[in-house]
Amino acid sequence: MPQIIFLPNPELCPDGAVIQAEEGTSVLDVALANGIDIEHACEKSCACTTCHVIVREGFDSLDESDELEDDMLDKAWGLEPESRLGCQAIIKDEDLVVEIPKYTVNQVSEGH
Ligand code: FES
Repeated sequence: MPQIIFLPNPELCPDGAVIQAEEGTSVLDVALANGIDIEHACEKSCACTTCHVIVREGFDSLDESDELEDDMLDKAWGLEPESRLGCQAIIKDEDLVVEIPKYTVNQVSEGH
């Protein structure tokens, strides 16, 4: 089973997390199932940027993003070459190291 390592994020997972994931699950679903509450404003339909994650290791093992996802990502703050929408990044048989961008959290808490 691939191992997904979430790097520490001050609000969502202060100590980081190491999670065994099923192949075929999205990065977002693995996070949510383990109490890492990444925003997913459009309910995983590839129509927002709140589930933006950066795949620091294992990026190439994922299916390439499609055009719709790329269009969305273009609108994400802090876009990086290894950025993906968490709900569209389907885990394969390789371990991943995933960073949850901090500004996502800031953006969210500003609204409270
Ligand atoms: S939850 Fe909206 S694109 Fe992933």
